[in-house]
This record gives sequence, structure tokens and C-alpha cells, in this order.
Amino acid sequence: MQTPVIAPSILSADFTRLGADLQACQTAGADWIHVDVMDGHFVPNMTIGPLVLEACRRATPLPLDVHLMIEKPEQMLETFAKAGAARLTVHVETCPHLHRTIQQIRALGVKPGVTLNPSTPAVLLKEIIHMVDLVLVMTVNPGFGGQNFIAEMLPKITEIRAMLDSSNPAAWLEVDGGISESTIALIRAAGADAFVAGNAVFKHPGGIAAGIKALRRVIS
Ligand code: DX5
Ligand code: ZN
Repeated sequence: MQTPVIAPSILSADFTRLGADLQACQTAGADWIHVDVMDGHFVPNMTIGPLVLEACRRATPLPLDVHLMIEKPEQMLETFAKAGAARLTVHVETCPHLHRTIQQIRALGVKPGVTLNPSTPAVLLKEIIHMVDLVLVMTVNPGFGGQNFIAEMLPKITEIRAMLDSSNPAAWLEVDGGISESTIALIRAAGADAFVAGNAVFKHPGGIAAGIKALRRVIS
């Protein structure tokens, strides 16, 4: 396990002032910026694409952690790499040729990640887990911010921690969905070291800096 990183998800940001929100994250000590790309097919929502990613790239030097919730992600990898992704994470459920897709991401000079829906078992990572820079465990069904953390995912986080410890200890174990001051301690204890947070950061009553500080306080 590595020193924990916090990755605010801009899905919950104010898009009328995205640059200012990104600046606020940076000033408050966010480590990465999490960018949720949705296509209205794989998930029942549409969000942002390469144009907005490229704008984020100009607004902050923080690494852009891009979560692709899209069908046929292999067709868009180069576009998102060029737009400034530091990490590209694809869903196991969208990639029949996952081994090849991971190789494609790495060949673009981007760090590859894989992620799983709550209903998808960890065993599907077995043959490729040594190839990735990051495993992302979804703790909500992807598509929307502000959903409740699914506590049944805690044993899956522990299971994937053990898989990483034995075959890829340098990789990040990231968790996404329903992370708050009240859930983050359990998630850390289960073995995660990267924490995505949308509502807990951007909808915190005290503002963005207070949201990041509150999460950090629990895990440091
Ligand atoms: C959901 C997205 C998440 C979302 C998390 O599909 O992948 O990154 O923004 O939002 P919160 O932290 O509010 O659950
Ligand atoms: Zn996400």
C-alpha cells in the first residue's frame, strides 16, 4: 500500500467555473483529478469528452485520471491520450480483448488501469493484473455521482489488495463511489490507496478545500 492519494471527481464540479474548481482542488492538495467519461450506452448517462479533458489539462498540472465508461474504448484511447490523460482506466465489461487494450494504452505512453462494476468478480483480473498501473474498484454502479457506497464491495477490495501484493505491488488500488468521511476509513483498512471523491469534495458545505481536508484527516 502506498501513501494515500485523493482524486476529486469533476463530475460533481460546477461546470460554469471548472477552471476555478480545479485550481481550488490543486491549492487544497488534491493529488490527481478524476475525469468520468460516459457515453450513454455502457452507462445511462452522458458526461464529458476529450474537449473538456483538454481544457482540464490547460487548467491544472495535476495528473488527469480518466475513467472511461464507454463501449469500444479501444477506439478512443489515442484521442484521450492526446487530450492529456495521465491514466486511462477501462472497464473489464467493455473489453473482450482486455490484454490487447492494456498494451494499447501503454504504447500511447499512458498508464493503464482496469475497473470492475460491483457485480463483476475480481477473478476476471487474474490474467492481466500484472500489466496494469492501477485497479479501480467501483463501489457504486457507474453512471452518477452522489450514490450510496455499496459496503458489500469491502471484501472485494481486500481480495484485490492480496492479488496486487502477490503479483503487482507497485500498482495503485483505487476506489470510486460513495466515498465520504464516514466510509473512507473502512476502505483504507480494506487496502485501498487511491480515493475518488465527487460529492464529498465539491458539495462539501465548507467548500472544496474543507472537503479534501476532511477526507485526508481520516486516512492520515
Ligand atoms: C460514477 C463515477 C464516480 C463519481 C463518484 O460513475 O465513476 O467517479 O463521480 O461520485 P461520488 O464520490 O459523489 O460518489
Ligand atoms: Zn469515476
